[in-house]
Amino acid sequence: MSKTIGILTGGGDCAGLNAVIASIVKMAIPRGHRCVGFLHGLNGLLDGRYRELTLDDVRGISHLGGTILYTVNKGRFSSKVGLSGERVIPREVLEEARRTIQEVGIDTLIIIGGDGTIGAAAQLSQFGVNVIGVPKTIDNDLEGTDRTFGYSTAVSIAVENIDRIHTTATSHERVFLVECMGREAGWIALESGLAGNANAILLPEFAVDVDELIGFLKKRLQTRGSAIVIVAEGIDVPKIHEAAYESDKTIQVAPRGASEALMAEIEKRAPGMFELRNAVLGHVQRGGSPNAEDRILAKRYGVAAFEACEQGRGGCMVRLHDNVIETIDIEEATGGFKSVKVDNPLYQAAKKLGVYINHP
Ligand code: F6P
Repeated sequence: MSKTIGILTGGGDCAGLNAVIASIVKMAIPRGHRCVGFLHGLNGLLDGRYRELTLDDVRGISHLGGTILYTVNKGRFSSKVGLSGERVIPREVLEEARRTIQEVGIDTLIIIGGDGTIGAAAQLSQFGVNVIGVPKTIDNDLEGTDRTFGYSTAVSIAVENIDRIHTTATSHERVFLVECMGREAGWIALESGLAGNANAILLPEFAVDVDELIGFLKKRLQTRGSAIVIVAEGIDVPKIHEAAYESDKTIQVAPRGASEALMAEIEKRAPGMFELRNAVLGHVQRGGSPNAEDRILAKRYGVAAFEACEQGRGGCMVRLHDNVIETIDIEEATGGFKSVKVDNPLYQAAKKLGVYINHP
């Protein structure tokens, strides 16, 4: 039976979104289904902004970054507040969305997003909307899946940039603080730091002992002239967080200025001891083309989401588990947050290799 499949992308963009969209459409149209893309994330369900998606629309987009459907990570649909606060989406918002879905004749809505968007998808599902989630985020912090697409590309970009910083840091005998994304989870910092030969890695999961770090850097500089410290944007350094969460509490705000604040703190405690510089990688990690790993994962997710939809399934999220793509209940998928633990093999490997990592 022919179905109308709705597709939308929500939350911060990442590399691979277009590959998921294209895969769903390329599976659905030749099998006699109709595809509708809602624009600007979940907000498209409120203002009824959507477009039909044809095969022509998705030709040649799988290798491109961003999303042809646009996305937002704020608004009335936010299911997260500040750092980890959950928000119950008001009933009238869910009703409005359901009305649009019924008017457009959507049988199943495929929602591609990170923790906030998948959380909202779970609330829509509880409200009776037939939803299938697809996990994305450069942060890789969704407990329900081994991997989110967008993450591998973000790590590759970070490593490429760390390699560049190495040569300038060595030439000038400086200590460089390289700030990567990661508000609550330090996966990008950990993997890019390990791959990029960082000397120290600072994760948001644990407090930062600035004096201990200074001690480490001092020793390092006695034998080597320079050092690279990877700093996750969410690290716990005095005065960063207050600034980041002061404004509108309904908007998910990313902390700003972690490496800047840490640099000031080091300088205050050890004046003139190091020649310090910082480099903020920022949204460079989210932009541009997906790497091969993310293209493949995104395509596998797209195919699986379509197949679940064709089988009449709903209330689920596709995921990667032990290298197998499968579906899990969407409630279960949103049930947890995946953070770096001290017993993580990568954490341990970095530590054994002499990398300084902050700890509980
Ligand atoms: O969740 C993805 C993410 O890239 C985080 O790593 C980062 O903290 C945040 O989004 C940045 O959000 P924005 O694009 O609103 O600055």
